[in-house]
Amino acid sequence: MTGAARREVLAVPADEDEDGADLAAAEARAVDPGAAPGDEGEDEAGLRPKRLEEFVGQPDLVEHLGIVLQAARRRRQAVDHLLFAGPPGLGKTSLAGIVAAEMGVGLRITSGPVLARSGDLAALLTDLQAGDVLFIDEIHRLHRSVEEILYPAMEDAKIDILIGKGPTAKSIRLDLPRFTLVGATTRTGLVAGPLRDRFGFVGRLDLYSPEDLETIVMRSARILGVDVEPEGARRIAARSRGTPRIANRLLRRVRDFAEVRGNGRITAAAAAEGLDLFGIDELGLDKVDRAILDALCRRFSGQPVGLTTLAQCVGEETDTIEDAYEPYLLRQGLIQRTPRGRAPTARAWAHLGASPPAGQPPDAALF
Ligand SMILES: Nc1ncnc2c1ncn2[C@@H]1O[C@H](COP(=O)(O)OP(=O)(O)OP(=O)(O)O)[C@@H](O)[C@H]1O
Ligand SMILES: [Mg+2]
Repeated sequence: MTGAARREVLAVPADEDEDGADLAAAEARAVDPGAAPGDEGEDEAGLRPKRLEEFVGQPDLVEHLGIVLQAARRRRQAVDHLLFAGPPGLGKTSLAGIVAAEMGVGLRITSGPVLARSGDLAALLTDLQAGDVLFIDEIHRLHRSVEEILYPAMEDAKIDILIGKGPTAKSIRLDLPRFTLVGATTRTGLVAGPLRDRFGFVGRLDLYSPEDLETIVMRSARILGVDVEPEGARRIAARSRGTPRIANRLLRRVRDFAEVRGNGRITAAAAAEGLDLFGIDELGLDKVDRAILDALCRRFSGQPVGLTTLAQCVGEETDTIEDAYEPYLLRQGLIQRTPRGRAPTARAWAHLGASPPAGQPPDAALF
């Protein structure tokens, strides 16, 4: 998604209350689950859980991962390769750090799109110490030729390096120390089968419950030194679309609001008012979410719409719609995926305060 496209959708009307416009402009999109650069990024690093016991929620995943780590520690072996899958902002990168910390080993971080050539990956691999964790974010975006280097590295801790060019080129096989590959992906479906099969453990992260998010907001407030009442944390959690990163971001925005307009304390009222100001409604939907629902209901009158058309309508990329918006809208029962495209549900019509065209039952598109 380009910044320009995002800002376009978010442009604040010129006549908006001055203070409000300032606050809103300070945060281009408060509920964008993607990571943000700048000092918010630094804040985010401080808020990351460092150990497994600090990691809130995802009880099954935490339990299974805990067993895998403990067993490897007992055997004094590197942990089996791990793949974490789930929508953005749910804690995949945090988990990679936790694995390294729990094992007391080094962590090297890279990402699929950054590893353009197989040599880039070979350089990283040959530099690893025994037991190290190599974290590859967005592993579904690895180039095929780079991916092929990974197979023997994961399976046999070996890599084949081609030395020289043309007819005199020689392939030599190098031994690597045993290491742990931790992959993260927002799309398991896009991770090639042979790669997926080489992971010994696949952890799926689901959207968080409001209760878990409340715990995360309270924890982050403690770390950031923000004065928040439990009821205020609950309001923020309820509108964080199941995503810790968004919960943290909303906490910071509401803190700004409470400091500028109040005494800095986040009460229930301050949270609700601040969130309203930033255009986040009671379901946690922002302007883009509402634009999606609006396009489905009003522009296409509830008929199924293809992903590309929908993305164009709201000025986002198809990947962003699929990764960041759809999971929550589906989870909230606001949209449905049908064989012919995306369609709004009765709840979506109700949320927009609109009714489906006469004679069409609200969920007609599904049948
Ligand atoms: N279980 C959790 N407990 C507490 N905080 C969490 C948890 N999961 C995530 N967070 C918070 O959310 C932020 C985002 O998490 P993280 O960067 O690990 O997500 P991600 O899944 O890697 O996202 P992306 O797909 O965008 O890379 C972290 O900085 C951390 O503060
Ligand atoms: Mg990440």
